[in-house]
Amino acid sequence: MNINIKAATAALLATATFLMAQPAIAEVYAQNPNLGNTPMEGTATFEAFGGKEGLVKIMDDFMIGLVADPRTKPFFDNNKQTFIKAMLVEQMCELMNGGCKYPGRDMKASHANMKVNREGFNALVEQFQFAMDKHNVPFSAQNKLLAKLAPMYREIETTTGDAVPPVFPKAE
Ligand code: HEM
Repeated sequence: MNINIKAATAALLATATFLMAQPAIAEVYAQNPNLGNTPMEGTATFEAFGGKEGLVKIMDDFMIGLVADPRTKPFFDNNKQTFIKAMLVEQMCELMNGGCKYPGRDMKASHANMKVNREGFNALVEQFQFAMDKHNVPFSAQNKLLAKLAPMYREIETTTGDAVPPVFPKAE
């Protein structure tokens, strides 16, 4: 009996120590250095986007817009669309504290060598706004996410001159 109590106490202590050693969820997200910004608190914005399901639909339309827009078409008219959309879903989901873990590269590395300029950056944001509007994301929620994205221009824009889109193999 005595031994059982000792064993139970030891198990409890071990569990407590383990739990205390775990960083809070917000800290774990903040520790993803590739995310580009710290995640939001709470999930209200994520819910306003319709959760992950909503994000997937928004990214589908976003990509259609990016390929239709002559300012961004040269960057996205390639066979990486599915991959980029999936990465964007995870990144936005984690930024909105939706319980995802963005597995991609950081913003500097993923946009290196493609010489994105201000025009390209603004065009992409505009297309994202069109897609969010189409899916009835409330303006306040749109702006909360855009505020997380805006500072990323520092890592993404690498020229003030002419943009040089990457050359990818063409989609079939
Ligand atoms: C806040 C703005 C932006 C965000 C949050 C963003 C996010 C991302 C993410 C998550 C990826 C995938 C990363 C990976 O490969 O692991 C990616 C790739 C890419 N992005 Fe962006 N991006 C932004 C702006 C732009 C702009 C302005 C352009 C061009 C006009 C652009 C063009 C691309 C291209 C072409 C890729 C594929 C690169 C490759 O796989 O080699 N992005 N972006």
